Amino acid sequence: MRNTEQFSAWNGAEGAAWAAERETEDRLQAELCGRLLEAARVGSRDRVLDIGCGTGDTSRMAARRAPEGQVVGIDLSAPMLQQARRAAAGLDNVLFEQADAQVHAFPAAGFDVAISKYGAMFFADPVAAFANIGRALRPAGRLAFVCPQPPEDCEWYVVPVAALLGIEPRPQAVVAGYPGPAPAMFVLSDPTHIDRVLAASGFTDVSIEPLHVPHRFGSTPADAADAFLASGPTRYVVEQDDGLTWEAAHARLTASLEPYAGSGGVLLPGAQWLVSAQWTGER
Ligand SMILES: C[S@@+](CC[C@H](N)C(=O)[O-])C[C@H]1O[C@@H](n2cnc3c(N)ncnc32)[C@H](O)[C@@H]1O
Repeated sequence: MRNTEQFSAWNGAEGAAWAAERETEDRLQAELCGRLLEAARVGSRDRVLDIGCGTGDTSRMAARRAPEGQVVGIDLSAPMLQQARRAAAGLDNVLFEQADAQVHAFPAAGFDVAISKYGAMFFADPVAAFANIGRALRPAGRLAFVCPQPPEDCEWYVVPVAALLGIEPRPQAVVAGYPGPAPAMFVLSDPTHIDRVLAASGFTDVSIEPLHVPHRFGSTPADAADAFLASGPTRYVVEQDDGLTWEAAHARLTASLEPYAGSGGVLLPGAQWLVSAQWTGER
């Protein structure tokens, strides 16, 4: 295990909040999974590795697309994997393992394709991690993952963070006002950097396509405020501000999220990269 900070976060509050979000079926996440599996060209006999599978929605969908194949979901988080195993109980071609993708000894060339939905941005050494994932693929094996576009292009980030900072939701001002380094989830948000990392890790034929799938944060603005306060950059902003009580933060968030509430819940526009690449077989 190399990514010890991430290990603590995803086995603690961050993992619990994410797992709670994933308890409800989300058609937007299913749409994102569908786009990911299309880009990965998952076939009926493929051996699929799902990196940072969390509660396993992508693993289950991949297992249905590869009924004669096999899916292995790996993640750092024991509680999320427990939820993944429960949800996949009826599927006999999927299994889950607790492992760090950066250093885990995968079977060499043991997979045809590797996928990840929001699980490939948290590596302390991204080149080492992607090279390790590559070595798990057969030559010309495929990689596809989804990650967020830059913070200033993510309304789901700009709006709540601006509310907590007490400023207008102007993207550059919000990014500048964030009380710390950019959150880890944005590590791969620059396409030039993605290209560089994948080339250095032994991947080729890199394609980076923009997606705009919205995020659902809860049924009502108050639910969504709970979700924002439970995890991620928003919880961090509150933790950094001694003068901001949880109640005041909740009230500010709720007000900022009102315009996004509708019959389908609280939906904020999303901005993702859908990245695909091919393993050269060398690294
Ligand atoms: C944002 S969550 C996404 C979970 C899931 N793919 C989804 O879309 O619901 C990120 C996941 O990546 C996992 N993760 C982070 N670093 C990892 C690593 N080095 N190896 C394996 N999993 C990792 C975390 O434990 C967490 O479950």
